[in-house]
Parts: sequence; C-alpha cells; structure tokens
Amino acid sequence: MTAAEGTNRGGYANVQGRLYVMVGPPFSGKSWWVRHRFESTFGVRPAIVVPDLLRTLILGNTGYSEVDELVWANVHVTIKGLLAAGNHVVLDACNLRDHQRRKWARYDPVFVEMLTPLAVALERARACGMVDAEGFIRRGYDQWDKAKVQASRQRMMYYGITPESASGSASVAAGHGVDAGPDVSDHGQGAGVR
Ligand SMILES: Nc1ncnc2c1ncn2[C@@H]1O[C@H](COP(=O)(O)OP(=O)(O)OP(=O)(O)O)[C@@H](O)[C@H]1O
Ligand SMILES: [Mg+2]
Repeated sequence: MTAAEGTNRGGYANVQGRLYVMVGPPFSGKSWWVRHRFESTFGVRPAIVVPDLLRTLILGNTGYSEVDELVWANVHVTIKGLLAAGNHVVLDACNLRDHQRRKWARYDPVFVEMLTPLAVALERARACGMVDAEGFIRRGYDQWDKAKVQASRQRMMYYGITPESASGSASVAAGHGVDAGPDVSDHGQGAGVR
C-alpha cells in the first residue's frame, strides 16, 4: 500500500484523494520540492493548490492580508472538491502555525515539512537577488510552530525534508519516501510509504 492509498479518511467518507500539506517558511524550498521531488517520493501526481497565486489572481498582489479570508475560503472549497473527485492534492503554502494546519485535520493530511536552516533560506534569497526578503523570511522562521510536534500529538502522518534529502545527497532507503532518519514519523494508519 502506498501513502496515497492510506485507509484512514478521518470520517470524511466522500473524500478519496489524499491531502499533502507543505510546511515551511519562505524560501525553505516547498515549491521546488513539490515540483521536483513529490512524484518520486509519493508515487502519485497531485493537483497543486497555491494560495499565493489565487491571491495574485484576485488582487494582482500577494501583499493584501485583507483578502486572506476570501483566499482561504476559495482554497478550502477547491481542495475539498479536488479530493472528493479522487485527486491527490498538495497545499503549497507556508502553513507555519498550528491553528493554520489544524483546519485540515478532518482530511487526515500528510504534513511535509521543510527542515531548511534559516541560513540556507537567506542564501537562496540572496542568490535570487531578493535582498529585501530577509525580514520577511526571518519573521517566518520566528513564527514557525513545528509540524512534527503537532503531527506527533495528533497522530498525523509526517515527513521531514532536510536540504540534503531534498537535493538527493542523503540516503533514501528503498521503500522510504524521504529522509528515513529521526525526522520522519508515521502517525497515520495503513500508510506504507515513508
Ligand atoms: N533543494 C534545492 N536545491 C536548490 N535550490 C533550491 C532547492 N530548494 C529551493 N531552491 C531554490 O530556492 C528558492 C526558493 O525556493 P522555493 O520557491 O521552492 O521556496 P518556497 O518555500 O516555496 O518559498 P515561498 O514560501 O516564498 O513560496 C528558489 O529559487 C528555488 O529554486
Ligand atoms: Mg513557494
């Protein structure tokens, strides 16, 4: 059985796909990992939901927190519909706070957390010429409630991704999705890919 075929749907009988919730501060590499590593890790091709793109579509700018409620209401409807139609779905957003992630618990999600050190994120921003992103990135790191703690408490599936495992230099044991070291724990039921 693969992670995508997990059996615990958390009581949501009409949901057939699996929800993967990315977690990590800005520039930690979430979008990169979804694009380059997701399929080889989980063996499924997901629909990718990116709230920042929706925010841009609505207002042409990602900076308006006033529309957050509208954006997230749309994200929720979209994800629910995609899951019900049998798609596997990735939510590509920072999801740094416990309360932001808790609302997805009903879908029995898999958390994929980028364990990227601050210095690496800052270096990536510099390499992209985004020198003024430093404050924004630091704020993200300051706000971060680690999903690993929440996953453990609430018995949810969890994968921790280090820069080494993302780049492929860390060993990835056969049958294990990523980084089968201490940062990976499976709290879900019936999920075989770890
Ligand atoms: N494992 C990696 N190896 C090399 N470059 C990477 C890696 N991960 C991310 N990057 C680069 O770092 C930058 C930031 O990555 P990415 O956009 O994926 O971050 P993010 O977590 O999605 O950020 P945001 O929250 O702002 O959307 C990009 O230029 C990306 O190409
Ligand atoms: Mg991104």
